Amino acid sequence: MIIYSEKVIEHFTHPKNAYEMTDADAWGTIGDSSCGDFLTMYIKVEDNCIKEISYLVFGCCASIATSSMTSVLAKGKTLDEALNIEEENIIEALDGLPEEKVHCSNLGVSALRDAIKKYLSKK
Ligand code: FES
Repeated sequence: MIIYSEKVIEHFTHPKNAYEMTDADAWGTIGDSSCGDFLTMYIKVEDNCIKEISYLVFGCCASIATSSMTSVLAKGKTLDEALNIEEENIIEALDGLPEEKVHCSNLGVSALRDAIKKYLSKK
């Protein structure tokens, strides 16, 4: 049986910033072919900072919780700070993830980096 922390359950049942951003400055996508989970993360940038961030995610409860926490940690950060968010930061902020769900934390970080890189390449 998989046991999740209270924080994971909170972000899974009440995901933060979960919506499609139709006027995003850039978006990044990532999929995990082994489990079929898929994430699109949208960003709006102002003064080199992530002013707004949202996502749509299709996947397991850990991928929903980690996407939510990624958005919470990235909001208001400079682009450099957001690029430096690591999977460990997401896991720590969620008070841990079961071993078999650690790979889910890769989705948010990868989609966020993809969105930032696309934004920077457009400039
Ligand atoms: S089970 Fe693969 S991303 Fe969650």
